[in-house]
Amino acid sequence: MSIAIEVEQFTKYYGELLAVDHINFEVEQGEIFGFLGPNGAGKTTTVKMLIGISKPSEGSARIYGYDIQKETASAKELMGIVPEISNGYVELSTWDNLMLMGELYGVPKAVRESKAQNFLELLELSEKIHTKFKALSKGLKRRVILAMALLNDPKILFLDEPTSGLDVHSTRIIRDLIREFNKKGTTVFLTTHNIEEANQLCDRVAIINHGKIIAIDKPEHLKKAIQSAQSIEVAFNKSSNHMKVDLETIKGVIEVRKLGDKFRLYTSKIDPVLRELHSYATSNNLQFITINTLAPSLEDVFVRFTSKTNRK
Ligand SMILES: Nc1ncnc2c1ncn2[C@@H]1O[C@H](COP(=O)(O)OP(=O)(O)O)[C@@H](O)[C@H]1O
Ligand SMILES: [Mg+2]
Repeated sequence: MSIAIEVEQFTKYYGELLAVDHINFEVEQGEIFGFLGPNGAGKTTTVKMLIGISKPSEGSARIYGYDIQKETASAKELMGIVPEISNGYVELSTWDNLMLMGELYGVPKAVRESKAQNFLELLELSEKIHTKFKALSKGLKRRVILAMALLNDPKILFLDEPTSGLDVHSTRIIRDLIREFNKKGTTVFLTTHNIEEANQLCDRVAIINHGKIIAIDKPEHLKKAIQSAQSIEVAFNKSSNHMKVDLETIKGVIEVRKLGDKFRLYTSKIDPVLRELHSYATSNNLQFITINTLAPSLEDVFVRFTSKTNRK
């Protein structure tokens, strides 16, 4: 097994704030590895440390064997980077941004021109070739940055929330190109707060919250956790002390939480639980005031993972 990223005890303090808390993980060459977590989880801070623009407070990382702190230049040569905020030169056109990047990477003129042409087609940017970066939409900017990151044929591509806030079309184009490069052997490290994105793209996903990795798993396992975080919100016209316990005994209910006058029932099987709830209401002469089925939020998924970890 060849390792693309090896992280040991990576830690970042911003003053008193512990943004990344002694994390450890490995990414294999050829993997698409996802870092899934909500805003403020520490994703961007981790990426910045991995690409050598932020110094870890503690710990270390190796990129294809190169220590990012001590062998920064060798490590960086292998990287393509799509940062959280698209950072093209605002006054330059799409074409000139690509050419400048190619020059910086030392890609020969003929090669950078033919590669740029190819990317412009793949990313449906050909019409925007002479448009200044500042005049592009968010989705188009992102595509240009992706093309710039790929000009150097990186061994490893870092993408910080590649499709966050983008239109469906840009999202699809970007995901397709990430997959295509990965098929040709590029290792991919991406962050996202989108469960679906992690599921669709990644071979393995690390779930990060409050600077800590809660779980690292294959998306299929993640999916199971997500499924078990479906929920039904219910309120009856009357309530009683034993109601929470009654609801907990319904078959298929994983957990019940009381939220004000409502109960939240977590389950992996919505339909049979709804039926059981109905017969519970009938036999206890209760009327429904509220009943909602809810898809899991990222927060719900964290709760599931965290409570699983705590029970061990
Ligand atoms: N330059 C900084 N100075 C101080 N605090 C920061 C800085 N950058 C990020 N933070 C804080 O560190 C935490 C993690 O931030 P970040 O890595 O950007 O999370 P994410 O990318 O997962 O949203 C947050 O609480 C954020 O406010
Ligand atoms: Mg971020």
